[in-house]
Amino acid sequence: MNTLRSFRPLASRLQPSTLPRTVRQFSATTTRSYEYLLLSEPRPGVGQVTLNRPKVLNALCTPLINELNTALDTLNSSPTIGAIVLTGSEKAFAAGADIKEMAPLTFSEAYTTSFIESWSRLTTQIKKPIIAAVSGHALGGGCELAMMCDILYCTESANFGQPEIKLGTIPGAGGSQRLTRALGKSKAMELILTGNSFSGVEAERWGLAARTFPTSEALVEGALATAERVAGYSRVAVQAAKEVVNKSQDLSLRDGVEYERRVFHGLFGSKDQKVGMKAFAEKKKPEWTHE
Ligand code: CAA
Repeated sequence: MNTLRSFRPLASRLQPSTLPRTVRQFSATTTRSYEYLLLSEPRPGVGQVTLNRPKVLNALCTPLINELNTALDTLNSSPTIGAIVLTGSEKAFAAGADIKEMAPLTFSEAYTTSFIESWSRLTTQIKKPIIAAVSGHALGGGCELAMMCDILYCTESANFGQPEIKLGTIPGAGGSQRLTRALGKSKAMELILTGNSFSGVEAERWGLAARTFPTSEALVEGALATAERVAGYSRVAVQAAKEVVNKSQDLSLRDGVEYERRVFHGLFGSKDQKVGMKAFAEKKKPEWTHE
């Protein structure tokens, strides 16, 4: 059995200067409390969402997913936030969709329920980059959630996998597609057909994770540092970068190159492109408009 102690959310172990502020600081009109997550602004320009359903290793039930969507919408529309970190506890990022909630669903209930459909919002409707900081289990829907994020950081000992085959089912939130794009068909097929787990070290070696960290504390610090750096750049350029990189997952090379060219040209209409290039010529630090 897991104790609450071993599952302490990572945010609670940070230095006082990085402790969470309340959701009120994001938007007075969306103030609310969350049952299954913590929302904070631990660094300037950085929103942090910490999944917090410890007794079941952050199993992703519908209310949790709904709260996650609300929190991400809040951060997405906040003028002060430029980048987002999504994390869990030392023991689990998320151990998958809530199996006990899913088990009794009939075909039509499963088909019409929004619990999977709403997850795709991370790459489509959330314009700000999201860094997944994965410690412990990231299984099934937890692995899929991490892969949906824009950058994936993890601990060396993180435990990834798509074990759905053991439940008589398959990944349902994009796992088979994203894993195959990241690892190639043969490795992804082996993992999905066996349900085997893989470590953070392997995730980095195979190109699924951008970086590993020795401890969960170092992981969150690293993710916050990257997020703070990204939040300090031009918002319009950062969001354009997220958009075009994610398009590479959907489009052919030819269409993707054309898409990137159009977005690149579109940025010539932005104030920040003028600010950035003028600052370079004047050897000054650019002062972004954060438009
Ligand atoms: N759903 C619901 N409850 C879960 C859960 C899940 N995905 N994962 C863990 N839990 C619960 C356990 O039932 C247990 O609850 P009780 O104390 O009430 O029994 C509690 O969390 C702690 O789990 P364990 O005692 O099993 O902890 P452990 O350290 O021995 O094992 C584990 C950890 C290997 C992650 C194991 O819990 C496990 O195999 N979990 C299921 C992982 C899985 O199959 N995920 C895929 C789900 S399907 C999916 O996600 C579909 C999709 O693509 C959308």
